[in-house]
Amino acid sequence: MDKEIFSQVDKYISDLLAPEDDALTDTIKSLEKEGLPQQSVSANQGKFLQVLMIACNAKKVLELGTLGGYSTIWLARALPDNGKIITIEVDKHHGEVAQKNIDKARLSQKVDLRIGKALDLLPEIIAENGEPFDLIFIDADKPPYTEYFNYAVQLSRPGTLIVCDNVIRAGKVLDENSTDEKVQGVKRLNKMLSENKTVTATILHSTGVKEYDGMAIAVVNRIDPLHLKQ
Ligand code: SAH
Ligand code: DHB
Ligand code: MG
Repeated sequence: MDKEIFSQVDKYISDLLAPEDDALTDTIKSLEKEGLPQQSVSANQGKFLQVLMIACNAKKVLELGTLGGYSTIWLARALPDNGKIITIEVDKHHGEVAQKNIDKARLSQKVDLRIGKALDLLPEIIAENGEPFDLIFIDADKPPYTEYFNYAVQLSRPGTLIVCDNVIRAGKVLDENSTDEKVQGVKRLNKMLSENKTVTATILHSTGVKEYDGMAIAVVNRIDPLHLKQ
C-alpha cells in the first residue's frame, strides 16, 4: 500500500460525502495567496467534525486555532440558526484572512472570531460565565495542548466532546527521544488522556490527502468512569 492509494481513497470519500463548495475551495486558495500554511483539516475531517456536531446536538462551539477559517466554516455550517462558534487565533493576518472567508461564506452571524493567545483568552471566556460548550476543537499550537485541554474541561458539561487535532504527527509520537516540541506537546496530552478520570477518550488515526496523523476524541463523562472499566 503506498501513499497514493490513501490520497485516492480520501478523494473517493470526499467526492461522495464531503464535496466542497466555492466558499471552501476559495478558503484553501486564500491560504496560498496570502502566504498562510496549508494546515487546514481535510474535507473529510471537516465532515467528520460535522457528524460529531450533529451527534451531540451542538449549539455552542469553541475552536482554538482558526488559520483561514476552513474548519470554522465546516463547524459553523453544522450549527442550528441560533448556534454560535467562538474561534481563537493569535495571528492578526490569519484572523483577517479568516474573517473575509467567513463573511464570504455568509457565516459572520454565527462566528465570533477573537484575536489573541489562546492561553490569554481562555480565562476570559471562563470569566464570562456563559453556558458550557457542546463541542471544543483544539487545533492551535501543540506545546500547550494539555493546558488547552484542561481549560476545555472547565468550559464543558457532561457529554461535551473535546477533539484535538494532530496528536500522532506522522507516527513521530512513537519516538521516545523526540526533541520536537510539537511531538512532545501532543505526547504529553495523549499521556494525560490515558490517566484522566473526567473524560473517556481515544485517538482515531488517519491517512489521506494530509500527512499521516490522528485526532483525539474525548467525551466528558456523564457516569462514573469505573463503570466503563473492563
Ligand atoms: N483549524 C484550522 C487550522 C489551524 S492551524 C483549520 O483546520 O482550518 C493552527 C493555527 O493556530 C494557526 O493559524 C496559528 O496561527 C494558530 N495559533 C498558534 N498559536 C496560537 C495561540 N497561542 N493561540 C491561538 N492561536 C494560535
Ligand atoms: C501543524 C498544525 C496543524 O494544525 C496541522 O493540522 C498540521 C500541522 C503544524 O503546526 O505543524
Ligand atoms: Mg490541525
